[in-house]
Amino acid sequence: MSILVTGGAGYIGSHTVVQLLEQGHQVVVLDNFSNSSRESLVRVEAITRKKLTLIEGDIRCEATLSKVFADHQFSAVIHFAGLKAVGESVAKPVMYFENNVVGTLNLVKAMSAAGVKRLVFSSSATVYGEPEQMPITELAPTGGTTNPYGTSKYMVERILQDVCRADSEWSISLLRYFNPVGAHESGLIGEDPNGIPNNLVPYVSQVAIGKLPALQVYGNDYSTPDGTGVRDYIHVVDLAKGHLRALEFLEKRTGCFVHNLGTGLGYSVLDMVKAFEAASKQEVPYTIVPRRPGDIAVCYADTTLAKQELGWEAQLGLVEMMRDTWNWQSKNPDGYKS
Ligand code: NAD
Ligand code: UFG
Repeated sequence: MSILVTGGAGYIGSHTVVQLLEQGHQVVVLDNFSNSSRESLVRVEAITRKKLTLIEGDIRCEATLSKVFADHQFSAVIHFAGLKAVGESVAKPVMYFENNVVGTLNLVKAMSAAGVKRLVFSSSATVYGEPEQMPITELAPTGGTTNPYGTSKYMVERILQDVCRADSEWSISLLRYFNPVGAHESGLIGEDPNGIPNNLVPYVSQVAIGKLPALQVYGNDYSTPDGTGVRDYIHVVDLAKGHLRALEFLEKRTGCFVHNLGTGLGYSVLDMVKAFEAASKQEVPYTIVPRRPGDIAVCYADTTLAKQELGWEAQLGLVEMMRDTWNWQSKNPDGYKS
């Protein structure tokens, strides 16, 4: 199949492109490099020994999208392009809605005009807001989001559901990711955050390599076994494979489908620190500080539906997640600039 991957140079996109190329698909990446570099795609080609087509462009530009669809015939689109920093979204909501919501509307319009009506969308467990029950099933209420980033994901989900209701030719997969971590086992591609990382695992790995002095653990007074926040961390390679299963699933049906992509297991911040220390053989000093506003105590997926409908489940555990994060970090201490 010929597949357009928006945001394909980014963290999850680059790992998904590896899987697509390895399965023999033709890939066109559209990315504006606002949070990534060309180097990730050079390395994707090195890993797979296959070529992809790269278009530098922005999903906010309708003319760019029209040209991309005029120049290529796609079977489907995987849509990763978007902004994802929760704190930044609070400070710059318009920028977030423009990239994530308007950008997706532009994409849907261009797809519709070209008659390409199969789409996999990067959603997030953030759409569940503060969940009432664990594990979280796809039927849990959505929309109680607490920041513009989360709201943008929720809005796009609603828009795409309406698109499917209005036109029965569309088939759309909304994949709600839990917490992606890890890197490709080659150590050639991985997560390369700009500046000081917001997320736990990139932060821990920069402490371990000596770029940051200590981790700040945001609260140890949650009602969890050790008092620190619990999340469902999923290896990015497992996550990437989930996209291929979603594409296969859409081939046989129309409509809008929602799946959680997680492991179903919850680990605390201190579990993660210990596992990282074991994998890296480095000490990770930490201090306990007050809770981070907007954080929830516990979040992990019910993975039954993805298993039943997509035939997908995570294969890699915490040891592999931490091993591969450290392999990437230690081989590329300055990310793609190393
Ligand atoms: P990332 O920032 O590494 O990748 C996003 C890519 O999109 C980048 O290469 C960036 O340059 C590109 N991009 C951004 N705006 C664009 C635009 N207007 N036009 C063209 N390209 C644009 O992020 P990621 O971690 O790979 O996340 C991919 C998707 O998954 C995002 O939509 C994100 O919101 C979603 N998601 C991520 C997580 C996570 O924790 N990483 C969790 C849930 C959902
Ligand atoms: N944490 C720390 N110190 C840090 C960073 C994080 O203690 O320096 C803790 C947090 O309090 C939380 C856990 O580590 O308990 C995980 O935090 P992350 O920031 O790595 O991840 P979140 O679960 O807060 O958020 C992630 C993505 C969001 C997405 C959400 C739900 O960053 O984009 O998962 O899918 F919306």
